[in-house]
Amino acid sequence: MKRLVIDTDTGVDDAQALLMAFAHPDVKVEAIMSVAGNVGVEKTTANVLKVLDVVGQDVPVYRGCDRALIHSLPDASDAHGNDGLGGADVSVSQRPIEQEHAVRALIRLANEHPGELTLVALGPLTNIALATRIDPDLPGKYKELVIMGGAVRGKGNTEIVTAEFNIFYDPDAAHIVFSEWPMLTMSDWEVTMNQGLTAAQFDELRTAPSPRGQFFRKITDRTVKRMAEFGRTTFLLPDPLAMAAVLDPDCVRHAEKRFVEVEVVGQHTRGQTTVDWYGFSGRTPNANIVIEYDMDRVFALLKAAVS
Ligand code: RIB
Ligand code: CA
Repeated sequence: MKRLVIDTDTGVDDAQALLMAFAHPDVKVEAIMSVAGNVGVEKTTANVLKVLDVVGQDVPVYRGCDRALIHSLPDASDAHGNDGLGGADVSVSQRPIEQEHAVRALIRLANEHPGELTLVALGPLTNIALATRIDPDLPGKYKELVIMGGAVRGKGNTEIVTAEFNIFYDPDAAHIVFSEWPMLTMSDWEVTMNQGLTAAQFDELRTAPSPRGQFFRKITDRTVKRMAEFGRTTFLLPDPLAMAAVLDPDCVRHAEKRFVEVEVVGQHTRGQTTVDWYGFSGRTPNANIVIEYDMDRVFALLKAAVS
């Protein structure tokens, strides 16, 4: 049984990734930490609870940081809707959250279950950076860290054109995590852009008759409209791809270990993830970069998520 702790700025694709995790028979979600990113932390926290209502699972939820470590930046509500779930008409959950802060919970759980928990980061790394500063031994206490983040050849998705949103939103936090964690699995924006779903596949997920399928449809109506406006024919899966790497490592068809740093001062590049592809730095690789997924296996996880 793979035991997960998920740190998320629950927006549309985070919610899809959460559905995948809850649908996997060999996975137990031990805790979910919210963080600001796609939208504010009150909304991302509320969105986690909405997903728990859909899947009917009781998992402790911990509210995390409401802003980046140093410089607050705009959210991604343009992409995810003002509520973070595509403006979907999803009832507000009455579930309670834990009183303990997400950062404290990240540390406590690692110390209570050393080496047993897989940490999955689907949003900015603010909570994880602070937890790492408070407990410098944290990286050795989690079994592994898998993140959605970065743009390994500088093809980003933000106003800093070489930066991907999760890193762009809190580059200082990302710098701490990439500097202090000896290894992490990195599912970046570029593999996301290279490996999306076809319209037919996306429609198959959106027409699943189950309550989870109906939720998936509700939260992706806005996505479909935006894709049509942009003339895009593939549907992107940033967080679901990272989650697929956790749920079924055989989904990863090709990955390469490289040394990665986060730019924190560049006027035009703050938030860029710079990759030492040829070993010129002489630095030890700290990231296992996913280059290619087996999309048949990914799609199978998504179909299970809405079944
Ligand atoms: O750049 C994509 C990432 O930013 C995804 O995790 C999405 O949910 C947003 O957080
Ligand atoms: Ca996210």
